[in-house]
Amino acid sequence: MKKSIKDLGNLQGKTVLMRVDFNVPLKDGVITNDNRITAALPTINYALEQGAKVVAFTHLGRVKEEADKASKTVAPVVTRLSEVLGKEVKFVPQTRGAELEGAVKALSNGEILMFENTRFEDVGGKKESKNDPELGKYWASLGDVFVNDAFGTAHRAHASNVGIASNVGEGNSASGFLVEKELKFIGGAVDNPVKPLVAIIGGAKVSDKIAVIENLLEKADKVIIGGGMAYTFFKAAGKEIGKSLCENDKVEYASGLLAKFGDKIVLPIDTVVVKEFSNDAPSRVATNDIQSDEEGLDIGPASVELFKETLQGAKTVIWNGPMGVFELPNFAKGTIGVCEAIANLEDATTIIGGGDSATAAIQLGYADKFSHISTGGGASLEYLEGKVLPGIESLSNK
Ligand code: 3PG
Repeated sequence: MKKSIKDLGNLQGKTVLMRVDFNVPLKDGVITNDNRITAALPTINYALEQGAKVVAFTHLGRVKEEADKASKTVAPVVTRLSEVLGKEVKFVPQTRGAELEGAVKALSNGEILMFENTRFEDVGGKKESKNDPELGKYWASLGDVFVNDAFGTAHRAHASNVGIASNVGEGNSASGFLVEKELKFIGGAVDNPVKPLVAIIGGAKVSDKIAVIENLLEKADKVIIGGGMAYTFFKAAGKEIGKSLCENDKVEYASGLLAKFGDKIVLPIDTVVVKEFSNDAPSRVATNDIQSDEEGLDIGPASVELFKETLQGAKTVIWNGPMGVFELPNFAKGTIGVCEAIANLEDATTIIGGGDSATAAIQLGYADKFSHISTGGGASLEYLEGKVLPGIESLSNK
């Protein structure tokens, strides 16, 4: 069992180094979804209310060269944090050096600062991403204790999580409330679910989700497969798929899964097909009659009904991946239908395992209807696969 921020004792006057994952989507410098920022507020507020001096930091995107820095500054994130926190967040546009050290020392109890994108340290040597020992040690030296609330980055072993945890001193690192919530919901659903457990896996490629599908097939009562990856399964089942997305090198694999878990896997029974990939392309619903010049972009209405029926009575539901090309409004109906079906379940713990399905649910206005929407993308996937997350593993044990 890992230490929680509450196990670090009274934080009054302590400098708390807090890794958050504020790697949020930005369009022309404007944050389009601040879910990851608001999700970290309980931990930040707890530390501030205790009278801690909080030094928060995050990565933002990937920074390869000097020229990337201008568009990857965390300045907009600092502004947004300040707005949602309702208090000043000091910003130090550095990742190390005298200015940063001075600003940390000058913090009063109950004040917070953020420093610049941790991945600025990747320019010329990938110090952050390769967990450079000197960098983790340096950042650890800036504070007394380390709190990791960056669930979205927990699958990475970087200087700003694993590096600091290994250098901040025995017993001085802990998880924040967001990390705990993610582990409780996702871990609980995978390791100890209230049954029946129904998993819905979508997205474009089978290859991205192999480990998740395998892990969930072992644990779930039903695994619904939709989205682009369903066509590889259709092909494996001997169906015509026209020009639909297909990973030919995974057809045999899909066929093996169907043979072994045929009673658990639920595939779509109809498909919305087009002749040209465009939102305005004329479409029709195909049932086992996809033509050679057609491709499927969404599940059809009968599949939505079938999936709804499959979900009835479920006590735990995990959803990861859209049912179609939901970015194109005319092909979002399947994803919306599934989202609604899960959101309307009574008496079920419903979890969205991050990524595109989380974006879809939030955009569609269903954020409050789920028990938990993960802030992770890759991290939730790896956790659903049953992997150990280094960012969490490196924290102090209770
Ligand atoms: C994410 O958005 O999945 C996390 O912030 C991790 O980002 P990364 O894939 O660039 O490490």
